[in-house]
Parts: sequence; structure tokens; C-alpha cells
Amino acid sequence: MSTPIYTTISALEKHEGELVTLKGWLYNKRSSKGLHFIVLRDGTGLCQCVVNHGEIDESSWNGADESTQESAIEIIGRVRADEKQVGGYELQVTALTLLHKAEEYPITPKEHGVDFLMNHRHLWLRSQRQWAILRIRNSVIMSIHNFFQEKGFLQMDAPILTGTAVEGTSTLFEMEYFGRSAYLTQSGQLHGEAMAMAFGKIYTFGPTFRAEKSKTRRHLTEFWMIEPEMAFYDLDMAMQLAEDMLSRIVSDALANCQTELQILERDQEPLKRSLSGYPRVSYDKAVEILKSDKTAQMVADKIAGLQQETSDLQTESKEGQAAHGQAKKWEKKKIDAREIEIQRRLADIEEELRNLPKWLESAQAFEWGGDFGGSDETLITWHFDRPIIVHRFPHEFKAFYMKRDLEDDRVALGMDVLAPEGYGEIVGGGERATDLAFLQSQVKKHGLPEEAFTWYFDLRRYGSVTHSGFGLGLERTVTWICGLHHLRETIPFARTLDRLYP
Ligand code: 4AD
Ligand code: MG
Repeated sequence: MSTPIYTTISALEKHEGELVTLKGWLYNKRSSKGLHFIVLRDGTGLCQCVVNHGEIDESSWNGADESTQESAIEIIGRVRADEKQVGGYELQVTALTLLHKAEEYPITPKEHGVDFLMNHRHLWLRSQRQWAILRIRNSVIMSIHNFFQEKGFLQMDAPILTGTAVEGTSTLFEMEYFGRSAYLTQSGQLHGEAMAMAFGKIYTFGPTFRAEKSKTRRHLTEFWMIEPEMAFYDLDMAMQLAEDMLSRIVSDALANCQTELQILERDQEPLKRSLSGYPRVSYDKAVEILKSDKTAQMVADKIAGLQQETSDLQTESKEGQAAHGQAKKWEKKKIDAREIEIQRRLADIEEELRNLPKWLESAQAFEWGGDFGGSDETLITWHFDRPIIVHRFPHEFKAFYMKRDLEDDRVALGMDVLAPEGYGEIVGGGERATDLAFLQSQVKKHGLPEEAFTWYFDLRRYGSVTHSGFGLGLERTVTWICGLHHLRETIPFARTLDRLYP
């Protein structure tokens, strides 16, 4: 007999009733007399494989018997549809080979702290939640490429080693470069502008670096940015493009990532509302919203809601503990699992309750001219049910390359897209200054080395035209789509102030 066709769990639907070969790792095993229920993980999904002592040879049975969590195994079996099973299919095993017996696996179903998990990121990647998040990341990447390619944009790569700052000098990673200084790029924008003047519409898609010296849930030191740059686009056109791009990302995720979103228990209603109609909100208006009575009321309501939730959870926890003594083994497991969830949620609520009064205080003290902090953005987004585009910021705190608004010289033609549900800025960009003398004076004013910008000034010497662009932060976008608290899980190996391992 020839070996049954080697396939993957994701393709089992094409093989119902057939004998197939699967190769993967043991995700979970339950055993009872003469039976092993092995959940196999092969990277494409999970599948329960039933090993019946009476139906296989001794070496297969021993292999199943010895297999530990994350052991590598090869299984031959018949595919059976079973809606109740994870993935919708089950394998009736006819042969099993233990390829490599794993040592005792450090990540078990019990609760682990985030630090422990991040230190074991190389293994944590194998768990179901991480699988879901990083597959959504892949979907977002594909959506972005498809969106821009269909619109006639060319993907162009900006250098990673550069001689200049783009987004201020405080977050530059400096390195020695054959006896002089070089920096890891903060943004591909400036080179993107040169490429837009050569090709019309381009986008870069690459890693960018910022020496962020604070620990926040929105900052990485290495993150991926997508930066379209378009000749002959003004601010309004750039805002529309950002809306269309995000709309495409969300609609593709809803269409292609249902399994993943359900694993993450993502509430999909906010995503469904984010398919069009993003309000344009001027900075002036955003400040008004931030300082409004309605914001104060929303914070008060939120605090009351969280306090109620705390007391409900505490009651539930007490009841669970009281029932624990007499509970059957499987009931105990369920109570324990729920208790972990309760404690995790209580810790999050506690943090929020500590923060909210501070957030409100700083919102009320906010003055025109200031830059919105993360908490200000969060409060502003509470007033809307979909992403908003804030535009025309005071130029004082914006980058040197931004064009001024002809109608109000105090503001620059910048824009930020803020994601709803408190997520805040995921896109930053705007219209670029086109006037040579203005740019030269800006470079001076910002204390940047003029020699390093000679090439950039050339773009304003030879056919300078209206142009715009923006940068989308990939990890922040995936964090929002997945509905996560922290962005560190949206990149395979996060780099932050205190993390360079693994
Ligand atoms: O707003 P930023 O700083 O804009 C620029 O760099 C422009 N040069 C882009 C352009 O116009 N071509 O960054 C753009 C986006 C932010 O909105 C955010 O999503 C993300 O990049 N971002 C970060 N993501 C993770 N960690 C960090 N430290 C980030 N800093 C910015
Ligand atoms: Mg920004």
C-alpha cells in the first residue's frame, strides 16, 4: 500500500473519508483505557486524532503512549467530519510515528506571567492565541499589499541605515558607521518622497526604529510601518486614502479571519462599523471634545461601570471557591480556569481605575497648542464609534517637513487616524512642505544638520509639487483589529526598552 497523501489540517475538508498523513506536534492529550485523544497542531490548525488500541499496531500505540506535549509526530488516519471538534474534522488514527519526544514543556495550561511568556516567546508562538494574532497580522500585510498594488502604487524600499533624523532627534538609534555616525531609520518618508517624484505613487513597507525610553503598551523600539507617498495628493486626498486603506484591512480581516477573531473573542461590531464614514475632526474640535462635560461624564460612567464589574467578579470568585471543595475533578478544572480569567480581569480593572482620574485631570488641564498624549487620544475616541481622522495640528510640535495651512498659519497640514475603543493613533501623516526656502528654515529651526538634507532639498528644486503621505503602524493596527490590550503580542519577537531576548 502506498503512503496516504501528506496534507495539512487546514486542507482536511478536501479529504473527507480518505486516509491521509498529517505531520505536526502534540498540542494536548487526554487518555482513558485503550484510547488516546491527541490534539495535533501542524501550524495550519488543530485536529483531534483518536488513537484506539484495538485498531493499531503495537509500535503506533507505544508512540502515542509516550508522546508528550509538543512532541513531534506523524499520523496516518481516516478523515471524519465532526462539527463538535475543533476545526470541524477528526482523524481516526491507523498509524502513528513518534518523530521526536519533547522534554517537559515549560508552557502548560496553567497561568503564566507575561514576563515568563515573553521570555519563552520562541515557544509561546505555538499557542493558539498567538497563532490567531499572528495570522491576522499576515492577513493585514496581504490586504495592504493588495490594496496599494490594485491602486497602481509601486512598493519601494527606503534605506534602513540613514544619515538623518526624520521624526525628531530624541528617539534616534545611533551607530558607528566606518568612523562616522549613522542611524537606524525612524521612517522611510523622506526617501519615499524622492521615490514618489520618480514613480508617482509608492509605498514603503519596512522595519523602523525608535529609541523609546518609556514602557507603554503602544510603543516598540522596532516596528513595521507602511508609508504611502503620493505626488499631486493634497491633505484631503491623503485622508481619503487612509480611510480606504483601513477599510480594506478591516473588511479583509472580517472576511478571512473569522476563526482567528473567534479564538480571540473579538467583539466584531466595532470592526463592522469601521468600514466607512470616518469623521474628519479638526484639532480645534478635538480639544473641545476632550475638555467637554461629556468627557467628564463618560469617565464617571466608566468608573461606576468598572466598580460594578469588580464587585460582580469578586462575588463570582467567592462562589467559585466555595463550590471548589465538593466539585468533581472536571468541575474543579473549570472553576480554576475561570478564576484565572477573573483575577486577570480584576488586575486590568484595578489599573484602569487608577488611571482614569489622572486621565481626566490631564484632559481638563489640556491647553490649545499641546500634543495629545495616549490618554487624551483614548478619551477622544470614546466619543466616536469608528476611526476618526484628526487634522490640522499646531505646527509647534509637528515634524519639520509639514506644510502650513494657508488659512491658519498656526497649524500644519498633518493628520492622525485614531482607532476607536480607546486604541488611539494608528496612522500619522499629512501634506508636505513644497517651498525650498521654507524647508531650509525649518531644518535650521529644528536644529538638524543641513548638509544631510541636500538631497531632500533637491526635491524642491526640480519640479516641486503638492504631495502627501502617511505612515501606518502595523503592530498598532493589528492590536486594534485583534482587540488586544498591549501591542507586544502582534509581532513575532517584540523589541522594547527592556527586551532583546529571545
Ligand atoms: O506618527 P509617526 O511618527 O509618523 C511618521 O513617522 C511619518 N514620517 C509617517 C509618514 O508620514 N510617512 O509614525 C507613524 C505611525 C504611528 O501612527 C504609529 O502607528 C506608528 O507609526 N508608531 C509606532 N508603533 C509602534 N511603536 C512605536 N514606537 C511607534 N511610533 C510610531
Ligand atoms: Mg504620530
